[in-house]
Amino acid sequence: MAEQRYAIVTGGNRGTGLEICRQLASKGIEVILTSRNQSRGEEAVKKLKDSGVSYVDFHQLDITDPSSITSLAEFVQTRFGKLDILVNNAAESGIIIHEKEFVAGGGFWFHNEKLIEELQDIEHLTEERIDEIIQWFLSDFKAGKLQENGWPLTVSAYKVSKAAINAYTRLTARKYENILVNCVHPGYVITDMTFQTGAITVEEGAKGPVLAALLPDNGPSGLYFHETHIAPFSPTEYASFVKAFYEGKSI
Ligand SMILES: NC(=O)c1ccc[n+]([C@@H]2O[C@H](COP(=O)([O-])OP(=O)(O)OC[C@H]3O[C@@H](n4cnc5c(N)ncnc54)[C@H](OP(=O)(O)O)[C@@H]3O)[C@@H](O)[C@H]2O)c1
Repeated sequence: MAEQRYAIVTGGNRGTGLEICRQLASKGIEVILTSRNQSRGEEAVKKLKDSGVSYVDFHQLDITDPSSITSLAEFVQTRFGKLDILVNNAAESGIIIHEKEFVAGGGFWFHNEKLIEELQDIEHLTEERIDEIIQWFLSDFKAGKLQENGWPLTVSAYKVSKAAINAYTRLTARKYENILVNCVHPGYVITDMTFQTGAITVEEGAKGPVLAALLPDNGPSGLYFHETHIAPFSPTEYASFVKAFYEGKSI
């Protein structure tokens, strides 16, 4: 009999995260659906169980709270003694966005702004440099110097955080050769984050993260997936890739 596998999904109480929990649990993986809010998380677990999904459990997790992260790690260690899959799904835009401005501003798309470009250069990048770039961004944000210093001007914190997490993914993949570490753009998904303006359902949006989560042990690491396709990291190359992708050209 195959060994039981265990997964944690962050931000599992709604949107793509909830659907990732459903798809993983439906494949017999024991899923710890986590949510920063206890009752929202428990409600989500109940919803899944009521729909016939049984391999799902709840644990509180606020990804910005170190004590909450430690508590979850201790829970997994004590209860299961191992973790096979971690889906870092939770995120928010970091600011209050109005729907019209979000749509008119091109959503969360980022370009090759100066420091985002540096975050692509993993040959020379270190974790310390990623932290420095984020600190630099925060200080420029507070000082109103985004334009002056070449940062993204709309939904800036979200874009910089995603560029940083992509860079961190690649460094982590390189550092830990025994685990697969990949990042996934789920596609433009109909969720609260996109004011329900997305192009694909959560069922479709969850397919990429689930594919990455279930890669075989000898699968690729340090890659970027767009939905279920391997895509380039560079924003310029990625823009061409996505254009071809949506035009239905072979990629
Ligand atoms: N939707 C898209 O088109 C799209 C495109 C590209 C990438 N993504 C990425 O896909 C992921 C899922 O997005 P989504 O569209 O499903 O978003 P969503 O519907 O807005 O859900 C976001 C989830 O993250 C949780 N969350 C936020 N801050 C958290 C924190 N500090 N600790 C724990 N959980 C937290 C939220 O919990 P609460 O309910 O407590 O707020 C919620 O469960 C995100 O990483 C997003 O950036 C989405």
